[in-house]
Amino acid sequence: MILVTGGAGYIGSHTAKALRASGLEPLIFDNFSTGHRSFVGAAASVEGDLCNSADLERIFTEYAIEGVLHFAGKALVPESRQNPELYYRTNLTGGIQLLAAMRKHGVRHIIFSSSCATYGAPETLPIREDCPQRPINAYGETKLAFERALHWFHEAHGFQYLSLRYFNAAGADADGDFGEDHDPETHLIPLALDAALGRRPEVQIHGTDYPTPDGTCLRDYIHVTDLARAHVAGLKALLENRLESQAINLGTGEGYSVREVVNAVRRIAGRNFAVKEGARREGDPPVLVAAVDRARERLGWVAEASSLDKIIGSAWNWHRNRFQRR
Ligand code: UFG
Repeated sequence: MILVTGGAGYIGSHTAKALRASGLEPLIFDNFSTGHRSFVGAAASVEGDLCNSADLERIFTEYAIEGVLHFAGKALVPESRQNPELYYRTNLTGGIQLLAAMRKHGVRHIIFSSSCATYGAPETLPIREDCPQRPINAYGETKLAFERALHWFHEAHGFQYLSLRYFNAAGADADGDFGEDHDPETHLIPLALDAALGRRPEVQIHGTDYPTPDGTCLRDYIHVTDLARAHVAGLKALLENRLESQAINLGTGEGYSVREVVNAVRRIAGRNFAVKEGARREGDPPVLVAAVDRARERLGWVAEASSLDKIIGSAWNWHRNRFQRR
């Protein structure tokens, strides 16, 4: 079985589904603090917390775990600015407990949900994996610290790992089984979809004075089902000793501005909504766009479902079904 920590969350749930479809059996481990019980579906699951070593011990004792996909963690930049302790405790302390349990039970293969937030605000674009990593928020710092821990567990204990650095995960499952539903929601696309549904009065643009063509931040939006596919490919390659331990960006190589995303949501939803221009949000780099050569060359992976229209179209279908007042 493959342990999927955070398997009831946004990216974890999509990946657990892709794993099953590929013939590998996921075991979802989640404390349901932000994950959704309804996202577990037909997969086996155990409720527990990474920060509780007894919960981890139980998993590794009771199940034959061959590898780990590690999604569990806190993932909101603004929250990490306000509460760094929560981020260090969950993402770093919890993560190290997981590595310790893996080591104790002889499990050595792990894929980690890392992030472009580990790069900070890079000077050279697109962002290559070997560019300097200087995070500008506690979220990015904790993701980077765990990447470094993986490196040293590799050196000392023979761990085989991939740190997959996602750019901006977005979109929803094509069958409508899961999608993006955070509480509080801070991400641009679900907030704009909320405005399109009339669940919020407006969308606020956080900063219009960035050094970008239209003054708003550029991001590389990657479909969550493309991310799921990359995890399955990476895990299989790692388990079959076809891939070295390393970090790999997962993005499209294309950047879209906040204004472009908002306008695409208006067009695809076919509904207009108010947009308010506001101040910059703390901790936001102006431009995050991935260099994608390493993913293509080493993982044999390229984004397939990540046009902005496909991302927003799938997210709109899911969002409307879940949240539209009937
Ligand atoms: N934004 C707005 N208005 C909003 C929400 C967001 O203008 O109401 C802007 C942000 O300022 C940013 C862009 O839209 O410029 C995208 O913001 P998101 O909050 O959707 O996503 P982030 O870029 O903050 O995502 C970052 C990293 C990811 C990481 C994620 C974790 O880029 O790698 O945080 O939440 F996974």
